[in-house]
Amino acid sequence: MSLMLCEYRRYAPKAAQILLISVTWFCSVGGLSTSESSRLASYFGTKTRYEEVNPFLLVNPLLVSRKHDLLPNTCTPLQVVSVIRHGRRYPTQKQIKKMKKIYNLIQQSESNSELVKELQSWNMWYDDWMDGQLVKNGEEDMKNLAYRLASLFPSLFTADKLEKCKMSFTTSSKHRCVDSTKSFIKGVTHNYLQLPELPDTEQEDITCREPVVNDTLMRFFDHCEKFVVQVEDNDTALHEVDKFKIGPEMQKVINKVADLLSIPKDQLNADLIQVAFFTCSFELAINNTVNSPWCRLFDEEDAKVLEYLNDLKQYWKRGYGFDINSRSSCNLFQHIFQHLETAVSESKRYCYGSVNSV
Ligand SMILES: *[C@@H]1O[C@H](CO)[C@@H](O)[C@H](O)[C@H]1NC(C)=O
Ligand SMILES: *[C@@H]1O[C@H](CO)[C@@H](O)[C@H](O)[C@H]1NC(C)=O
Repeated sequence: MSLMLCEYRRYAPKAAQILLISVTWFCSVGGLSTSESSRLASYFGTKTRYEEVNPFLLVNPLLVSRKHDLLPNTCTPLQVVSVIRHGRRYPTQKQIKKMKKIYNLIQQSESNSELVKELQSWNMWYDDWMDGQLVKNGEEDMKNLAYRLASLFPSLFTADKLEKCKMSFTTSSKHRCVDSTKSFIKGVTHNYLQLPELPDTEQEDITCREPVVNDTLMRFFDHCEKFVVQVEDNDTALHEVDKFKIGPEMQKVINKVADLLSIPKDQLNADLIQVAFFTCSFELAINNTVNSPWCRLFDEEDAKVLEYLNDLKQYWKRGYGFDINSRSSCNLFQHIFQHLETAVSESKRYCYGSVNSV
């Protein structure tokens, strides 16, 4: 999910007016062609492709949806602050380990069904080194996102502002986030502003075109002791998730998949079923495979249960479940608001001087 904060100044009144607009890019589900994956794609949660929500991006990834008109012509944008998630990534090492486990169980199945045979001959191409890294089309996600954002605010994304270091790009130290930020910067500098791409060595000399790593800001949850103690390192904090994993809804899905695969039920569990569902989503997002056999293990009812399982985990781990989850982000938001306030007060100062200096 992306959250964008912007601020507008009216031409007529002297006082700057601040509007906070949050735009989520996951607002409605568009209907794509009927394939195995797209039947399930609206249940992929945080692993949903941007294209699922805005199918026109499949045709033109640089097109800006004008559904939400951000800039009534009475306003001049002063500053835009975006909090953006990383692009498409490989599964994590933990996920790959589980993928291999269920894949090996399937290899031992003696079923003669088409589905099992297809899964048995499916190439297990995910490997440990991938460990959650950004994939190639994840780089494209970021470049395109940067291009679309910049083209919504052409007065803010100029070569001049870049040169004067009036743009900054802060990231967490996570590999996929640093890589996402690098791609985002390329999207702004190369794709949008059409500045020549610099070799990586030279790039480093131009500090403003490099990601700034700041985990205090961008991984605020790791730096919040109360969160770490009460949630992250607390084995019982997610007990509702553990309960759901062994509850009747999940059990039904486990039994169904066990039957389909002819694998003893006691060898499967919620984690392995979930990773099979993730594999369906990874195959679509990373590989563009629309008819993966992994998707055929599930119908929409199953997908709803697995979507709920993931939502429930995020609810308790990152969302509304515990107060401290949202409170841990206060430093980041304070930082953002301070930036916005600075922009407003600078603009007020400039109003009495040169109008063009903003
Ligand atoms: C991260 O950002 C905060 C807030 O701007 C700042 O106080 C801190 O010094 C920064 N940390 C690093 C390592 O740059
Ligand atoms: C761990 O989570 C449980 C359930 O929310 C809570 O009752 C308990 O106080 C937490 N433990 C710590 C050390 O915060």
